[in-house]
Amino acid sequence: METITVKDLSFKPFISEEELDVAIKKVAQKINEDYKGKTPIFLGVLNGSFMFMGDLMKSINLDCYTSFVKMASYEGTESTGKINELIGLNEDIEGKDIILVEDIVDTGNTLVKLFDILKEKNPKSIKIATLLYKPEAYNKDHKIDYVGKEIPNAFVLGYGLDYDGLGRNLSSIYVLKD
Ligand code: XMP
Ligand code: MG
Repeated sequence: METITVKDLSFKPFISEEELDVAIKKVAQKINEDYKGKTPIFLGVLNGSFMFMGDLMKSINLDCYTSFVKMASYEGTESTGKINELIGLNEDIEGKDIILVEDIVDTGNTLVKLFDILKEKNPKSIKIATLLYKPEAYNKDHKIDYVGKEIPNAFVLGYGLDYDGLGRNLSSIYVLKD
């Protein structure tokens, strides 16, 4: 694996496909144990989670639902400020066990917004599974239930994660070169 250039930035190899595979299978195994006998709804958060979700679900042996949602944010009025809206949720999640699947948890802002929106729909439980987690950047109290890999506070790319929309198709993860 070589250094790559995406737009104006250089990235170097960071997490290989093999390492990702091991980390994802570990997460799947824990979820399989924790949800034995239950029928959870896996909700992938687009766009970043699409590859993780695909590989994770192949190792899930539960009876389960698989779906995707997206956070849309737009400028509201002066009094409302920025509006965050959850789009794409077609399932009735009341009384259901939800597993939110994220590509990365950085500051946790996105996660907390999502969590608050979903909670209003009265699910039985909501847990979070994320491929990557930046503990140094995280500034929320909410527990992250399943973590593929903890990484330092650096910008990463590939395997669903993008730089300005590019690089999501890379099959392994790269980190910004300093
Ligand atoms: P927060 O700070 O809300 O961030 O936890 C979550 C979202 O921000 C994006 N993000 C990244 N995307 N490389 C990326 O390609 C990164 O290092 C990175 N850090 C955060 C991502 O969309 C995530 O869902
Ligand atoms: Mg994302």
